[in-house]
Amino acid sequence: MRRPTILVTGSNGQLGFELARLLAPSGKVIAADRARLDLADADAIVAAVRGAKPDLIVNAGAYTAVDLAEKEVQQAAALNARAPGILAEEAKRIGAVLIHYSTDYVFDGTRTTPYPEDAPTAPLNVYGQTKLDGERAIAAVGGYALVFRTSWVYALRGRNFLLTIRRLAAERDELRIVSDQIGVPNWSRSLAEATARLVALGNPALAERSGLYHLCASGEASWFDFARAIVGDVATPRIVPIATADYPLPARRPAYGVLGTARFEAAFGFALPDWRDSLARCLASPPERD
Ligand SMILES: NC(=O)c1ccc[n+]([C@@H]2O[C@H](COP(=O)([O-])OP(=O)(O)OC[C@H]3O[C@@H](n4cnc5c(N)ncnc54)[C@H](OP(=O)(O)O)[C@@H]3O)[C@@H](O)[C@H]2O)c1
Repeated sequence: MRRPTILVTGSNGQLGFELARLLAPSGKVIAADRARLDLADADAIVAAVRGAKPDLIVNAGAYTAVDLAEKEVQQAAALNARAPGILAEEAKRIGAVLIHYSTDYVFDGTRTTPYPEDAPTAPLNVYGQTKLDGERAIAAVGGYALVFRTSWVYALRGRNFLLTIRRLAAERDELRIVSDQIGVPNWSRSLAEATARLVALGNPALAERSGLYHLCASGEASWFDFARAIVGDVATPRIVPIATADYPLPARRPAYGVLGTARFEAAFGFALPDWRDSLARCLASPPERD
């Protein structure tokens, strides 16, 4: 049987890097980082897909600088809203399946129990709005597409909360961390492993499960809980809980962003491990280089 061709965009990102490795057993992976495929360039996206003729497109590229997005609205929209729509159109044109990732920041965080996929969206910031627009662009095309919303992604490479906390922990005696935002940390490798499990099902099984899903670890945490789990049981640095209001940032964040995963579990028959288990695995894994 012919091995499927899998185009992975944003392949140098936290998630894209893991995907490019973990999808290799399922097909011929074309790992396209920003230098190889600029997702801000619509013509380049069309040319890349028409050139590669992939069976599966996994879009891990995105504009993820949540605070900067408040100023760089056009760039965020080009990557997060326009590019997914073009990928969806091109995928539909050749009968390919598209896998795409979105965010808990499509919600306003006013709930206190996990969000189902069909809960009303109301993004609080530009990043969340552009990601929601991307979801809608894909849905409007109506091809074979699976969109996975996830949250608080970290890895041992790139820029993320885990690496920031580790760096600050080495520099300071005290860290003041927001304790009134609740969400779920997700190791990029766990997300990529789950994606690889789905890809291994093959395109027909994926195509018939087209739709929107929450793909997220079990459990929940505040940033304060996450920081404490990263640093471990040590005397210094002291981790002090603070309120969001005491740490103002350009972009507003939802106070609660836990994603309910019942639809994913029903469709695919498994759940992601508890976030603390994935974090422990991540912290025990060998360091990675950018
Ligand atoms: N990070 C989070 O906390 C989080 C939370 C919820 C959902 N998500 C979603 O999860 C997915 C994966 O995110 P991630 O955490 O892996 O983000 P990431 O580490 O920031 O990776 C994003 C990738 O997109 C690439 N990129 C940026 N501009 C590009 C352009 N013009 N053309 C092509 N590629 C470009 C970046 O390239 P460079 O490496 O060159 O910068 C980077 O490799 C995204 O859809 C994101 O919205 C992330």
